[in-house]
Amino acid sequence: MASVHLNVRPTAALNKTESAAQGRYRAGLQIALLKNHIHILTKRVLFNMHSDPRELGQFIPAHYHANMLNDETRMRGFQEAIDYLVPEGARVVELGGGTGVLSHFAAQRASKVWCVEFNPDLIKTASVLLPQNTRGDRIELVHANANDWLPPEPVDVVICEMLHTGLLREQQVNVIHNFKQRYTAHFGGPLPAFIPEACLQAIQPIEQDFVHEGFFAPCLQFQSPVTQQARSQEKGPPTVFQAFRWDENIPMNCSFDNALQVDRDGRVNAIRVITKNLLAIVEDQQRSIDWHNQYLIVPLPQPIDVCAGDKLAVSFSYAPGSPLTALTQSLDVQRMAQYASNALTAEN
Ligand SMILES: C[S@@+](CC[C@H](N)C(=O)[O-])C[C@H]1O[C@@H](n2cnc3c(N)ncnc32)[C@H](O)[C@@H]1O
Repeated sequence: MASVHLNVRPTAALNKTESAAQGRYRAGLQIALLKNHIHILTKRVLFNMHSDPRELGQFIPAHYHANMLNDETRMRGFQEAIDYLVPEGARVVELGGGTGVLSHFAAQRASKVWCVEFNPDLIKTASVLLPQNTRGDRIELVHANANDWLPPEPVDVVICEMLHTGLLREQQVNVIHNFKQRYTAHFGGPLPAFIPEACLQAIQPIEQDFVHEGFFAPCLQFQSPVTQQARSQEKGPPTVFQAFRWDENIPMNCSFDNALQVDRDGRVNAIRVITKNLLAIVEDQQRSIDWHNQYLIVPLPQPIDVCAGDKLAVSFSYAPGSPLTALTQSLDVQRMAQYASNALTAEN
């Protein structure tokens, strides 16, 4: 894989004194609510955490698609990647077409685009929008489940944006994995190109200011990857735990069991999850066209006092497409020295 860089923007230093509420946190206030009943407003939809397929981000109401259309970094990234990777006259498939916007970008170059969507409301929306835009006649809307649909002929490019931070909730991994297997069995090789081309995931120790106008609320939350985050203090560099290309072997598990480096004194009370999508790798210019999902901030049950040079033992493991709780419930973070002494106690 071409070399890729995380390119994580530093956040502003946080200047604050400890409040009474934070003192309680330091004293070890348990925040079990974060692991059980969490409601989070994501960029897309208010989900609740039960074993219901709707929580996985597959059913996204039509009006939330406007948020996606308004996300300029996402839109410009995909447009540039599609311009770069879709050859003139190509045959293209989009899995999970939504409003049809990415199919629209592809149709400016491709001779034929199959836009597959399983939500009937969005099929209706796209069928109204596409004819109002240039080259809508090159796009065939297909009301089908991407998990069992194949194009009628081999294609050059597959576009799919079913992406959520940590590869949680949405089904990109399963959909692309299944598509590749069925496509190869049906058409033989070669596989089409995929947009995005690759995925890189990292975690980073941070101190997050969870006090809001005096109200202490260490909640799981999302934050913009493209604006300064005055409430976040980075306590160490991001550590990559996963990097893969969508046209190669896709990991069917997201896991980490290793050390996170700390390079600043203070305390770590949250882990930031970073998912960087390499929409296209522009090898001749040694760069990639990137789009980051929103950062996910996972509060720790207990803050950990740290010194520069410390290491944190971090572990988690979950299947892609799982609810957010699959990450939060498997996440374990400890200072290395403490980790070693716990291991010793367990052995004895
Ligand atoms: C994050 S949205 C992206 C929509 C659009 N591609 C865009 O970029 O604006 C993902 C879309 O995939 C659709 N989707 C999810 N699972 C699907 C499946 N198994 N088959 C077809 N569409 C699916 C959702 O309904 C949603 O419209």
